[in-house]
Amino acid sequence: MHQPAITGTGVFTPPEIITNDELVAAFNAHVDLWNAENAAAIAAGEVEAKAYSSSEFIVAASGIERRHVLDKSGVLDPAVMHPWLRERADDEPSVMAEMGVAAARAALEMAGVAAGEVDLVICAASNHERAYPAIAVEIQQLLGSGGFAFDMNVACSSATFGIQAAADMIRSGSAGKALVISPEICSAHLEWRDRDCHFIFGDVATAVLIEREDEAAKPRFVIRSTRCATEFSNNIRNNNGFLRRTRKGHMEDRRDMQFMQNGRKVFKDVLPMVSAHIAAHMAEEGVQAVDLKRLWLHQANKTMNDYIGRKVLGRDPEPGEQPNILQDYANTSSAGSIIAFAKYSKDLEAGDVGLICSFGAGYSVGSVIVERRIG
Ligand code: COA
Repeated sequence: MHQPAITGTGVFTPPEIITNDELVAAFNAHVDLWNAENAAAIAAGEVEAKAYSSSEFIVAASGIERRHVLDKSGVLDPAVMHPWLRERADDEPSVMAEMGVAAARAALEMAGVAAGEVDLVICAASNHERAYPAIAVEIQQLLGSGGFAFDMNVACSSATFGIQAAADMIRSGSAGKALVISPEICSAHLEWRDRDCHFIFGDVATAVLIEREDEAAKPRFVIRSTRCATEFSNNIRNNNGFLRRTRKGHMEDRRDMQFMQNGRKVFKDVLPMVSAHIAAHMAEEGVQAVDLKRLWLHQANKTMNDYIGRKVLGRDPEPGEQPNILQDYANTSSAGSIIAFAKYSKDLEAGDVGLICSFGAGYSVGSVIVERRIG
């Protein structure tokens, strides 16, 4: 069995930013338009008037201050309320592949590995722009990598489940060098007209390069162990797919194509599940709270992360011990914990132990215990 290690990480961040104030101004303008268009039905009590959103609510409920997106013009147009993404010909790189390649190149550069040495590409994300051919195979071709590639989707836990799949293949020898790439095009999947969730998501792509430790030339994080778990729930759900055509009325209503969640219920169910999962993983691995130098958690909600940090460490986390990036990126689904890991891990010293953990729809939770090695 070979020891797998993470030797490179990369983040592609779209340049356009939407602040909460910009988002709320567009949303409230949409509310005015919608309420005017539906004035008669509202007066007759047939539909409920839409209510305004507020920046204060968004920060207090989630900790999110801004988000990066592929296109802000459509999202901020009260008559549109979704991003505009250029239609691409079949022989052009798809948008997910383009973002994924940018993140992958950064990870390869950090590891000092050539794309041609990679023999496994996993595109692990929650929103795949098509079913086939796999985005991962397109990325493999664009990078000039060999071996094989496949897509996988475990919603917000896609990246950690992807790391487990790649690490296991490297352990057994069925792959040598693997890229786990998470291009998340959440802005295209979010219902920007729904006040309960319009602030939640942003776009990004991350990549993690995993190889055999004995082939690693640079400082690295050995993957000591991984642990994945799932429990079925409808509280975060998307009903998009080709079956929509087969259901009367569903082609006209686009709401069921988008992200839907019962946020309060998710909060209540997922917090104990994640806390217990991490505690069991640490116990299994013989890692005590005092041994843990850093926690890189899924980036959905600041209150959730504060709660999990307190549960895992048995005290309030010190500044920097449990870095959040959600204030700048919002929820970027599977990429969130990897952004935190990529940005806040290089200062760890040889022997330091940390834990990456993602959680979300499914429900799903995935954790990865890593140890820093330098020499
Ligand atoms: N602006 C102002 N008020 C708003 C609002 C907005 N944008 N959205 C909702 N509200 C109102 C609600 O209508 C509700 O009013 P009421 O009390 O009169 O009914 C109140 O604010 C509280 O709404 P609620 O939805 O219960 O808020 P919350 O505190 O649960 O926060 C989330 C909402 C989504 C931020 C939070 O539930 C969450 O983060 N859940 C987990 C999400 C998660 O991890 N998802 C995984 C996704 S992959």
